[in-house]
Amino acid sequence: MTHTRQNQRTLNKGQKKRFVDAVLTLKRTGRYDDFVGTHIDFYRGDGDGELRVAHMTPSFFPWHRKFLLEFETALRKVDPGVTVPYWDWTVDRTPGASLWGADFLGGNGRRSDRQVTTGPFAHRHGHWDIRVAVTDGDFLMRDFGRPKDPVDLPTGAELERAMREPVYDARPWNSVAATGFRNKLEGWPIRHGDRTWYNHNRVHRWVSGHMLGAGSVNDPVFWLHHAFVDLCWTRWCARHPQADPYLPGEHHRNVLAVNDPMPPWDTPVREMVEHRSRYASG
Ligand code: CU
Ligand code: CU
Repeated sequence: MTHTRQNQRTLNKGQKKRFVDAVLTLKRTGRYDDFVGTHIDFYRGDGDGELRVAHMTPSFFPWHRKFLLEFETALRKVDPGVTVPYWDWTVDRTPGASLWGADFLGGNGRRSDRQVTTGPFAHRHGHWDIRVAVTDGDFLMRDFGRPKDPVDLPTGAELERAMREPVYDARPWNSVAATGFRNKLEGWPIRHGDRTWYNHNRVHRWVSGHMLGAGSVNDPVFWLHHAFVDLCWTRWCARHPQADPYLPGEHHRNVLAVNDPMPPWDTPVREMVEHRSRYASG
């Protein structure tokens, strides 16, 4: 199957509707909540002492690529004409962006309880109950820019700092790796005690509400965000053809090497690294 990545800002009304309708169908059948549950199961951090496959780890990119492709395959069983578009948050950086329109993902949460009240994922429209989550409440929440502790979306220059990194990842292969493309794009604060979040993590924080933490898949913007993160990985590989596309080469404590199988699918990491044949340009 070929997968096309299209910038969400170029979608026409009909394409937006087809994407939304396919997502709502997966929600109705329960399949969507399986994806939410998988992400919660694989939300482990540095301190847990267990194998880390999805976050704070070199396989952050391969794991989310596989997750995204699985979701896209499920969407295309509903409507073969649908793909997951991407949100370039360095360009579409305001609450007024068409991404947040009532005909697409809906807007910000209201002030009192952060409840999203516009668009197809507003609880009051009857199609989007939060059932699998780490927080209480059955309505989708957003809190753009987190006014209580303000945060901006990453800029093009901040993304560029990650894209410039000449190596894929670096010791100790976790959230404190001071160099390497993976940690700079995944975006953990690099120095101990530093409260700045970068790139990927900052976007989760800017949307806020359900996008914070393990249950972030409850907000459909998760997929558009990760489609862009995935595209950034593809662009990094193209820009650094001489670099090892994945590190570590050998098994290292609690992180996956390129030939290790990646749970829950048991797909080797390598298969997601060799992605070129999977994508059509667009
Ligand atoms: Cu994740
Ligand atoms: Cu994420």
